[in-house]
Amino acid sequence: MGKIVTLNEFIVERQKDFPYAKGELSRLLSAIRLAAKVVNREVSKAGLVDILGAFGTENIQGEQQQKLDVYANEKFIAAMRAQGEVCGIASEENDDFVSFDSEFHKNSKYVVMIDPLDGSSNIDVNVSIGTIFSIYRRVSESGPATLEDFLQKGTEQIAAGYVIYGSSAMLVFTTGNGVNGFTLDPSIGVFCLSHPNMKVPKTGVIYSLNEGNYLHFPDGVKQYIKYCQKIDEPTNRPYTARYIGSLVADFHRNLIKGGIYIYPSTASAPKGKLRLLYECNPLAFVVEQAGGMATDGFGRIVEIQPTELHQRTPYFIGSPEMMEKAMQFMKEEGVPSSQEVVAGNDS
Ligand code: AHG
Ligand code: MN
Ligand code: MN
Repeated sequence: MGKIVTLNEFIVERQKDFPYAKGELSRLLSAIRLAAKVVNREVSKAGLVDILGAFGTENIQGEQQQKLDVYANEKFIAAMRAQGEVCGIASEENDDFVSFDSEFHKNSKYVVMIDPLDGSSNIDVNVSIGTIFSIYRRVSESGPATLEDFLQKGTEQIAAGYVIYGSSAMLVFTTGNGVNGFTLDPSIGVFCLSHPNMKVPKTGVIYSLNEGNYLHFPDGVKQYIKYCQKIDEPTNRPYTARYIGSLVADFHRNLIKGGIYIYPSTASAPKGKLRLLYECNPLAFVVEQAGGMATDGFGRIVEIQPTELHQRTPYFIGSPEMMEKAMQFMKEEGVPSSQEVVAGNDS
């Protein structure tokens, strides 16, 4: 058996890449690791909740049993609050950002953005779900976090990643020095380095999108889907369609096997569905660090200047050669006139 490297050992070792941070990043990632374990424990018994709930919906402390996405939100926020490193957190589950307004947090240097439970429609059916997170340095001086701290371009991320609660639980993240994946060994409750220096294959045979929305897609995406379905031996086409409906799980599979994930603008959702700050930017940082690409169909996701916390964007992410092809179709076919605003990225 080779040497086991735990997540803790890894982040302590990597801390030397961030001499200015004096252990701050280690403590922050430790908080994420802890909340991830707590959420994983709950996810793994999600099917039991109804059985247990038959005795009443309150737990032993008299608290209401909570939906898993609210539960995950609370656990991640609590873990962040308990550390002195974070002055605020923006979450899919909160309309406004949460500011940690106390003496303990007033000089904290970081803000976190989070989708605490991604793929929530899959909770009840035992399909993989996840958590997505993104960490920035605050831009305000001190005191409670301000909106400007959160409205930073993805290029400013100092760390980002995701947890996948799948057949095993994994934490995958980057601090800008490549991407590393850690698998939870449930027998000892420790994340161990299982996927060092992850690289996305340059090309693949998987395309992932919700094809039920086909008629509402931009022409460029329709043409790209036709391209994927065409028979062409040298390029291994037709490609394979795979769509789980949990962004984290679809992304994770494509990162390992090679592929492209698309959630484009649609007629009913002209800005797409996915959120820029806590879904698209963090995975964009990860994929770029793994040698892949993430765009809104035209330009890099991480270069979009956010104007709102819950801003949406069309999303294309995956293997670089597949991305180039899809973007070529977007460029050539353009978008229907009703979607021109999206193409200009005008939010
Ligand atoms: P969330 O559960 O955080 O709201 O995110 C769901 C997202 C994403 O995970 C997934 O890829 C997408 O919604 C699926 O949307 P459709 O059902 O429209 O395909
Ligand atoms: Mn989500
Ligand atoms: Mn969510």
